[in-house]
Amino acid sequence: MGPAAQAIPASSAPALPQHIAIIMDGNGRWADTRKVTRMRGHSQGSEVLRTLLDSCRARPFIRYLTLYAFSLENWNRPADEVEDLMNLLRHYLRREAATLHENNIRMQFIGELETLAPDIQRDLESVRTLTQNNTGLTVSMAISYGSRQEMATAMKRICKKIEAGALVPDAITADVISAHLHTANTPDPDLLIRTGGDERLSNFLLWQSAYTEFYFTEKLWPDFTPADLDAAIECYSQRERRFGKRKEA
Ligand code: IPE
Ligand code: IPE
Ligand code: MG
Repeated sequence: MGPAAQAIPASSAPALPQHIAIIMDGNGRWADTRKVTRMRGHSQGSEVLRTLLDSCRARPFIRYLTLYAFSLENWNRPADEVEDLMNLLRHYLRREAATLHENNIRMQFIGELETLAPDIQRDLESVRTLTQNNTGLTVSMAISYGSRQEMATAMKRICKKIEAGALVPDAITADVISAHLHTANTPDPDLLIRTGGDERLSNFLLWQSAYTEFYFTEKLWPDFTPADLDAAIECYSQRERRFGKRKEA
């Protein structure tokens, strides 16, 4: 096996997804069709998130869940929507922290977190430390996240190590780059679900999704149900992951 293949999993056997990533999209359209404020759509979306976490815990083969909650590009939305989303995040963290912990969930936050308000940064850090030794589902919430920015940050970290004499350029492999991303210590997603009907990544997990299976659904995020999760998992289990190798005999 050549060095380029080292980061690729050995087995292509169809299995249940251990790591699911979700682009939770469609809150605005859900609100539009009901003639309610976008904020109502976002807050309904956060309710669906609670249900989703229960569904994942009830399907213990799911070990990791990565959720796209707010992109770096979402900062360019009108100021009142950004403020509403930040307030929703504040309330969510404060209301859910104890339950997340009771449910043995380990919470991680990925993104350019230093761009968030100081009180939110403190809340994220307190939820992270509260839950860091939990052994159940690991949830990575992507907030102020952009995959290209994440890669740029990783390059900076690597260059600083080279500057300090802790790394030589020839030692940089794909695994070394992975280890400097915000998602270090988390395996790549097996299945990525996007709700809301658009079929694109919108700057989410570009590096990590090299061999991820994609599942797009028209369902708007606030309408997403446990049955929709099962449909995505069922579709995944029908796929054959070859990782560039030949079809299994
Ligand atoms: C996803 O819903 C939530 C965030 C991006 C924060 P949208 O707000 O993008 O909803 P649509 O795509 O406009 O329906
Ligand atoms: C992606 O949705 C970001 C999140 C769901 C958090 P967007 O609604 O921001 O993506 P685009 O603009 O349609 O690509
Ligand atoms: Mg959208």
